[in-house]
Amino acid sequence: MGAYAEACRRALADPEGFWGDAAAAIDWDRPWDRVLDDSNAPLYRWFAGGRLNTCHNALDRHVAAGHGDRVALIYDSPVTGTVQRFTYAALTDRVARFAGAMRALGVGPGDRVVIYMPMVPEAVVAMLACARLGAVHSVVFGGFAAPELASRIDDCTPKLVVSASCGIEVARVIAYKPLLDAALDLARHKVPATVILQRPQCAAAMQLGRDHDWTEVEKAAAPAACVPVAATDPLYILYTSGTTGQPKGIVRDNGGHAVALAWTMGAVYGVKPGEVYWAASDIGWAVGHSYIVYAPLLAGCTTVLYEGKPVGTPDAGAFWRVVAQHGVSVLFTAPTAFRAIKREDFEGRHLAQHDLSRFRALFLAGERCDPDTLAWAEGLLHRPVIDHWWQTETGWAICADPLGLEAMPVKPGSPTRPMPGWDVRVLGPDGAEMPPGEIGVLVCRLPMPPGAAPTLWQAEARFRSAYLEAYPGFYTTGDAGMIDEDGYVFVMSRVDDVINVAGHRLSTGQIEEVLAGHPDVAECAVIGAADEVKGQVPLGFLVLKAGVTRPHETIAAEAVQRVRDQIGPIAVFKTAMIVDRLPKTRSGKILRATMVRIADSVPYTTPATIDDPAILDEIRVTLQRSGYSRG
Ligand code: COA
Ligand code: AMP
Repeated sequence: MGAYAEACRRALADPEGFWGDAAAAIDWDRPWDRVLDDSNAPLYRWFAGGRLNTCHNALDRHVAAGHGDRVALIYDSPVTGTVQRFTYAALTDRVARFAGAMRALGVGPGDRVVIYMPMVPEAVVAMLACARLGAVHSVVFGGFAAPELASRIDDCTPKLVVSASCGIEVARVIAYKPLLDAALDLARHKVPATVILQRPQCAAAMQLGRDHDWTEVEKAAAPAACVPVAATDPLYILYTSGTTGQPKGIVRDNGGHAVALAWTMGAVYGVKPGEVYWAASDIGWAVGHSYIVYAPLLAGCTTVLYEGKPVGTPDAGAFWRVVAQHGVSVLFTAPTAFRAIKREDFEGRHLAQHDLSRFRALFLAGERCDPDTLAWAEGLLHRPVIDHWWQTETGWAICADPLGLEAMPVKPGSPTRPMPGWDVRVLGPDGAEMPPGEIGVLVCRLPMPPGAAPTLWQAEARFRSAYLEAYPGFYTTGDAGMIDEDGYVFVMSRVDDVINVAGHRLSTGQIEEVLAGHPDVAECAVIGAADEVKGQVPLGFLVLKAGVTRPHETIAAEAVQRVRDQIGPIAVFKTAMIVDRLPKTRSGKILRATMVRIADSVPYTTPATIDDPAILDEIRVTLQRSGYSRG
């Protein structure tokens, strides 16, 4: 039996033995009583009774082991023209001092801290400082607007918000503080204190008594030591799109997370301590949490924090410049980034100018990697290009080609096979398992391995109903797909209203809620249409209230602005179309799937249950006017 098959066999037959062995890579203040606590199934807990500190495992222990001079973090920021290196010793020192500063502001174990920051080293410092104190961070992506930030503040009721004066989007300076101030005003929960990093590009106005300057509080602080916490205590909350406007607070624990992530660096990515690993994502997403911050540091690697884009900062050679300059061994990003590079530099002229001799593999996730992009990247790089499937909920890959364990042949369109600990099945509508090659819903037999979310923040009932109740004994991924004869998994589409825009997860239902709030809108539908670079983009259809006479263009522009103001630019909502009616079934269900096919110029059959087939023609004409449905 090969290493992959043996690891999978053991992780499922003897999870306690498998993950108990993996836990030896982590320092524990107190060993666990049970590797897997199943006493409250279907809710499972890993390493119950154990105590540890994640920050100690990510930083201090590497210093204690004599690696203090090793580079922990490279901050590479083409938008500010900066490259800065932090050794493990230096990063530990900064984190300890910022933890001391947060403690002086009243933050203690279990308290929540919201971090709303651009891709600057201080964002990583703040995350690790929370872990050091046993506080729970909740990072909110900078591209979200004030109401989104406010809803997260209300849900996790932080004692402190850490932010910066601005982010930089290519050449544009985006002031963060006015957005934060608006969110703090909007939120019902009153946050007693903020710490603001003043960046030279933009000064934030400070509110006396509430807002504290990062530099000053860090300078005044006494370093704080690591506080051991229970393995099952939350390390962080990360909000992700659900089916409604209320985002889901995905909880990550300390123990299972540290064990699983440290293990993946070697087994999945084949990266050794001291090597340079780069996840070109954002700390606001799960990929950023797991593979910019925690996993590389837990494994003693050097991680790259890149404040820039794949194109435009300054050109489509940006990724190759970073890989060459810092000796990156493995790069992890989203296919959309590669589509953006492909569009600007199909021949790879930029690539040819860089020395990529230390670069071994490219991993892609966040959305399905289309076979064209895969073939292009393989042809250009002459290295493994690995599509791997995961979700905010799972925290690490459900399926991958585990280069460190045993490389398998790649099949275009498939993220390869389940990782050890993941028992992936395809179920039909009746809950019965589908034969190989047939499409159904993708589920994972419980328990999920360590690192996967144990619950939702203060919403256990929602966790059960969203993930565990549809198919008892299984976690419902929300994705549909199939498993072929060779055990390769193919992830085809979401079964809910989640869409993937530039590798970012959005809920069409949430956008609809915002549009429905426009005073002239009677009803609306939002669909995800195919986009050459971003994978999908949301399109909105608005039916106006009777008697509305204002110009349609004005209302459409207001709708677009409304989504930008309430959800954020990251929703990439640029197209709102006014229509007379929406296509519906006789029972009133909007035929979104058919609308998607029309937008994407994919052949469709008119559903038998449709109320009035003529509406589909009206939708097609409207879409054609907006540049869709051209095929
Ligand atoms: N703060 C403020 N605004 C932000 C932001 C941030 N942190 N991140 C993005 N935005 C804004 C962008 O400026 C853009 O605004 P605009 O409508 O005014 O132009 C909007 O949000 C949409 O951003 P995005 O979809 O990222 O588009 P883009 O054109 O800037 O970049 C890609 C496109 C493909 C290059 C980029 O999305 C990318 O690199 N994606 C990688 C995805 C990724 O990291 N996924 C995580 C999982 S691996
Ligand atoms: P997120 O929680 O933002 O990471 O988004 C998770 C969702 O993105 C998954 O449920 C899938 O729909 C999609 N996804 C992520 N990675 C892949 C992949 N490699 N192949 C197909 N879909 C993916």
